[in-house]
Amino acid sequence: MDRRQLLQGFALSLAAGMVTGSPVLAAGDNWKEDFTRALKQKPWLLGYKGVDQNFKKTNLKIDGKLPENLKGIFYRNGPARHEVGDLRYRHWFDGDGMIHAFNFDGESVTHHGRFVDTIKTEKETEAGRALFQTFGTAGSSLTSGCSADEVNVANISVIKHNGELLALWEGGSAYRLDGETLETLGLKTWTEETAGLPFSAHPRVDQDGTLWNFGYAPIFGALIVYRISPTGQLIDRALVQKPATPMVHDFLITENHLILILPPYHFDNASEGAFVDRFNWSPEKGGRALIIDKNNLAAQHEIELPPFWVFHFANAFEDSSGDICFDAPIYQTPDVMTSSFREIMRGNEVGSDSAQLMKCRLNPLTGNFDMTEIEEAVASEFPRIDQRMQGRRHRFTAVMRGQEGAAYKGINQLMSIDHQQQTTESYTFPATEMAEEHVFVPDPDSIEEGKGWLMGTSLDYKRGKSALNLFDAQRVSDGPVARMEMDYAIPLGLHGNFYSS
Ligand SMILES: [Fe+2]
Repeated sequence: MDRRQLLQGFALSLAAGMVTGSPVLAAGDNWKEDFTRALKQKPWLLGYKGVDQNFKKTNLKIDGKLPENLKGIFYRNGPARHEVGDLRYRHWFDGDGMIHAFNFDGESVTHHGRFVDTIKTEKETEAGRALFQTFGTAGSSLTSGCSADEVNVANISVIKHNGELLALWEGGSAYRLDGETLETLGLKTWTEETAGLPFSAHPRVDQDGTLWNFGYAPIFGALIVYRISPTGQLIDRALVQKPATPMVHDFLITENHLILILPPYHFDNASEGAFVDRFNWSPEKGGRALIIDKNNLAAQHEIELPPFWVFHFANAFEDSSGDICFDAPIYQTPDVMTSSFREIMRGNEVGSDSAQLMKCRLNPLTGNFDMTEIEEAVASEFPRIDQRMQGRRHRFTAVMRGQEGAAYKGINQLMSIDHQQQTTESYTFPATEMAEEHVFVPDPDSIEEGKGWLMGTSLDYKRGKSALNLFDAQRVSDGPVARMEMDYAIPLGLHGNFYSS
């Protein structure tokens, strides 16, 4: 089999992998009713209720003072339609993706939100019911579709590369969007050869503007790595054969390497059930770090790691000794995904493992690995850095923090960690607010790392209103310098990015 056939087989196998004979949709249960009942008792569930309509462009009231030089658009993505016809999805990650745009023109801020018009939503809207299996929902009434992109929900993140706005999932292609109207323009095809292959939701932009990414295709037993030029051309790609493919959500770049952390959470081809249920957590097998030479993607080697689960990394860099250093919120197990994010969809609160922000050090030659806790950053998620430091030693990491063991119910604190001074700054949101990822927005008038703002959304579930918050990145403890409240609630989402105009 040559590389071309391999890649074509890779694409077709993705959809086949979602075929299942074991229904997650058990007869007699009704998650929609369960959720509606629970919402009356637990108003914080509002963030997981979902919506079915786009949000028209609205001017937001500004409380505080906006920096005059802050101009651009903050895009966010996340699962937003949690019910299709009579079906309420069984996992938070299942819902159809909605893109939000917060437009800063120097004086005013507007918000609008629009569903990605995917192949899936088009077919399901026409049918008036759910047709397709998703990440966490399967059943005899649902089909796996003919390709990964037929079930692509485009709901994890949103980036702009070479002027093109892309909504990202991780099982299939990116979707192209109009940056102003958010209208869906179609699937992104980098090359004919890679059409339809998985393109993950956490690409990394290198110092020279190169976009690096990867995708994992468990059925085919392989990962793919992408190198995309600053002008949007796919200039290299590599395949990594992994017969028992691990779930990999994010990765790292340094000056010389790409690093994929492979948790002992492997896809079992013989298993049945929803996609997420077909992975087995096997800590006894240990984890691996796959290290790839950026200048020769075929040069790959692996290092053994202790078993842990991770969704997101802040950043990695190489120090003078050649060690690869990175920081990430580390979980003992993937239970938060397999249990909490499922049960929350029927209104059940399930405590699970929370992530501890760790500093990790890995030597690519000796295989030595160690990690130490950043003590203050217990129960952390959504790490972000000043993107200008991507792949280089960074001084600041921002994380969202919550109550330990409370999954995403309790994210209510923004913390900025200064690794150089070994200090932290934090802001705790009001008691009835759930906060989401906050991204670093550089001050356009400064090249100094950390000069700028932290920007993110929150939901006041008691009042049913979402807000966009803006912090001075170096004075987080002072609270937001500006807050833009909406007259409505938007669903809790996942990731976003700000692009200056
Ligand atoms: Fe993510």
